[in-house]
Amino acid sequence: MIKRKWNINGKIQNIQFEEDQRLLDVLRDVLDLTGTKEGCGEGECGTCSVIINGELKLACLQLAAVLPDGTDILTIEGVEKTSLGKRIQRSFIETNAVQCGFCTPGMIIASFYLLSNHKKPDRKTIKRALSGNLCRCTGYNSIFEAIELASGRK
Ligand code: FES
Ligand code: FES
Repeated sequence: MIKRKWNINGKIQNIQFEEDQRLLDVLRDVLDLTGTKEGCGEGECGTCSVIINGELKLACLQLAAVLPDGTDILTIEGVEKTSLGKRIQRSFIETNAVQCGFCTPGMIIASFYLLSNHKKPDRKTIKRALSGNLCRCTGYNSIFEAIELASGRK
């Protein structure tokens, strides 16, 4: 059993998990943070996106045991409490960028990461930033529009 002390969504937490568990398993099964979804499980769809130490990462490819004490992890549950996260969520609703919703947490995390680093990204930058996130329902235009709306570009 591995023991770690991580900063998860701004709160220090002591956790224990098996040495072969992925971060995705630890978030969902140990910490009950089920907003992070498992789609493909092999790094192709982006539904498991989280922010680790300020970098956008895929939790399905991240072995939890290699993350040391003090690691900062931000999941959709943390993002949705921020003012930027709330703004992005509202924009997704306003532009009808959600249908089944399965891809949405990953889309919002990727959007949050983008808008944290670029205040008013153009469409090309938005497309590139979300190129690792797949949606099977909406088509991507409404999602791109949501990000433009959240950035104040629209
Ligand atoms: S579940 Fe991680 S990229 Fe698809
Ligand atoms: S809204 Fe259903 S997969 Fe994107």
